Amino acid sequence: MKYLAPQRRHPLRDFADRHWPARGQCSASMIQMTTREYRLTMPAATPRPDYGIDAPGVIRNLFLVAAIGLLTWGTTFAGLWSGIVGTSNVRIDLAHTLLWPGLGCLIMAVWMTWDSKFGKVRRREVLLGRLRWTGAEQVLDVGCGRGLMLIGAAKRLTTGTATGIDIWQSEDLSGNRPEATLENAAREGVADRVKVETADMRKLPFDDAVFDVIVSCAAIHNLYEAGDRAKAIAEIGRVLKPGGHVLIDDIRHGREYAATLRANGCSVTRISSVAGTILLTVLTFGSLRPEKLLAWELGHRVQFNSWLYVQPNLQYVINPGGTHTIPNALVLGAQCSVTF
Ligand SMILES: C[S@@+](CC[C@H](N)C(=O)[O-])C[C@H]1O[C@@H](n2cnc3c(N)ncnc32)[C@H](O)[C@@H]1O
Repeated sequence: MKYLAPQRRHPLRDFADRHWPARGQCSASMIQMTTREYRLTMPAATPRPDYGIDAPGVIRNLFLVAAIGLLTWGTTFAGLWSGIVGTSNVRIDLAHTLLWPGLGCLIMAVWMTWDSKFGKVRRREVLLGRLRWTGAEQVLDVGCGRGLMLIGAAKRLTTGTATGIDIWQSEDLSGNRPEATLENAAREGVADRVKVETADMRKLPFDDAVFDVIVSCAAIHNLYEAGDRAKAIAEIGRVLKPGGHVLIDDIRHGREYAATLRANGCSVTRISSVAGTILLTVLTFGSLRPEKLLAWELGHRVQFNSWLYVQPNLQYVINPGGTHTIPNALVLGAQCSVTF
């Protein structure tokens, strides 16, 4: 029979209390003390968020083509057959013809998988780091998927809210469901600041000028008609507050988005590296032409802190007061907003 020493405070318990008290992950029972044995039972680690694999069908097809190319070449190399097909007049060296496209597809598929798993999270941090955050912003993520940008933004908020809209297409993103987004938000500890809604980006279910920051990553290109993409950008412009910011990261149509944003009263800057864009365009034979755009709606707001801003504006008022007694006026004013 083991002798159990009287319960007393032990340095391991202090350590545990210091490191996991708030999340309720550690309790006295996790530390078992006997005279001979000090054992700290570690709490199960919170699972990492899973932002899904982009375009899973495309990746599967790339791996398939790679497998066919490499198998054809490999079986020829192993001497199982000649690798040549055709008649005595037309002969095609199938093994070598399929090898290079196969290798190309393999590299592309591996890169797309790596980017979905790790690259896009790093890129998100760099992109969101381009904005100045007060913590009080109302953020919208257009085509949020499993919450990559949405949750990245929510992590920068204190009193603000991040809203994601999507139509949850599984061909665009593996495991694409609103529950998966909310689960990721919980895993990142921001569930209280995140909301998701089912909505089409061409018709956003929000009033005019309600968001301070609008982000969208790898989503708008999924609209195949230029007119639909213009509608989505116009909707972004409509729900953006004056002085608000738009951050768009997409794999093509960057110039088109920039033109539509400008037509909707935004000033636009390209923030992608020109060399990176050219390299990917060449390597993918023009199929990917990634662009990152940062835009802000003209009519700038000076945000002093999370609850106070002043926004200057200039108006030309026709027939002030409707009396025709006062001439038209050019008015320089300022809107002051206090949130409480
Ligand atoms: C490649 S996923 C990117 C998801 C997420 N932004 C990310 O970076 O992980 C593209 C997303 O756009 C969404 N989407 C496609 N067409 C849409 C539409 N018309 N309205 C809203 N979302 C759409 C898809 O459902 C999908 O979640």
